[in-house]
Amino acid sequence: MKPISLRPANIPLPYFDFLLEQLNRGEPMVQQAFGRHVHWGYWPYPKQADGSVEDFAIASERLCQRVIAAAGVKEGDRVLDVGCGFGGTIASLNEQFHTVNLTGLNIDSRQLARARQTIKPLNQNQIEFVEADACQMPFADASIDVVLAVECIFHFPSRVAFFQEARRVLRPGGRLGLCDFVSTPFFQTFQNVTAQLGVKLANPVYGRVDSSFTLADYKTLACETGFSLRLQEDITRNTLPTYPVVCHVFEQMNYSKAVKATATAGLLSRLGLLRYQILSFAI
Ligand SMILES: C[S@@+](CC[C@H](N)C(=O)[O-])C[C@H]1O[C@@H](n2cnc3c(N)ncnc32)[C@H](O)[C@@H]1O
Repeated sequence: MKPISLRPANIPLPYFDFLLEQLNRGEPMVQQAFGRHVHWGYWPYPKQADGSVEDFAIASERLCQRVIAAAGVKEGDRVLDVGCGFGGTIASLNEQFHTVNLTGLNIDSRQLARARQTIKPLNQNQIEFVEADACQMPFADASIDVVLAVECIFHFPSRVAFFQEARRVLRPGGRLGLCDFVSTPFFQTFQNVTAQLGVKLANPVYGRVDSSFTLADYKTLACETGFSLRLQEDITRNTLPTYPVVCHVFEQMNYSKAVKATATAGLLSRLGLLRYQILSFAI
């Protein structure tokens, strides 16, 4: 594969700088773990996770399938995947459906370049990749059937602006399917106190991460922006095997800052302070 330019994104995403460098080098472990999807895994029976990178890649595919199912994607739909990473969700949709119109949107042109190189339309599907901010989308009003946001909203400048944009571009009957890290009220208070004390919990590896939103905040936001909740599933327990395997991959690559950041998120998740939710909304 042609090496992708390493010019950084216009918002700092240090873990993507690292991933792109490793992928350009052809590093097989990073390719297997993150070459398609850059998100956590879903294990229906978490005790059966075997800790291997292969098992993690299968679990990552399962997670994206669950978000696709939650949003009710069907043949003929125009689907927009915001924060599309290397296009893994677009690739899954392309393999699963025959007549869908797929658009992947990302703020980082380097990720889009990789997606364009690796994903070609199958059957009668159409695919395009667009460089833009999920909070200012270059699409007409009421032009899309399904908006997906797989593990990316915490990076966006504003959840409110993103929901307003998703509502604007969706057709009547349209759906929004997402998965996100969602805070508990206790964790929110804890974060507020630490912020007031000037203590920074965020680790620079993952860039801007806003994990302050609770499930109640999501429900209020949906209501205020004209969405109704279709489905809510707390899958925290099903994602927990992700943490040791992702830490292992980063350890093998000597990316110690990422090991620390991932282990901290793992601890917060095991303590139940940080939850992982799949949510689906309709208009
Ligand atoms: C954890 S990755 C998830 C990627 C992909 N959804 C997946 O599941 O493989 C987060 C993604 O959000 C993208 N992103 C961050 N801020 C964005 C923004 N404001 N607008 C669009 N995409 C953004 C990043 O470039 C990255 O691709």
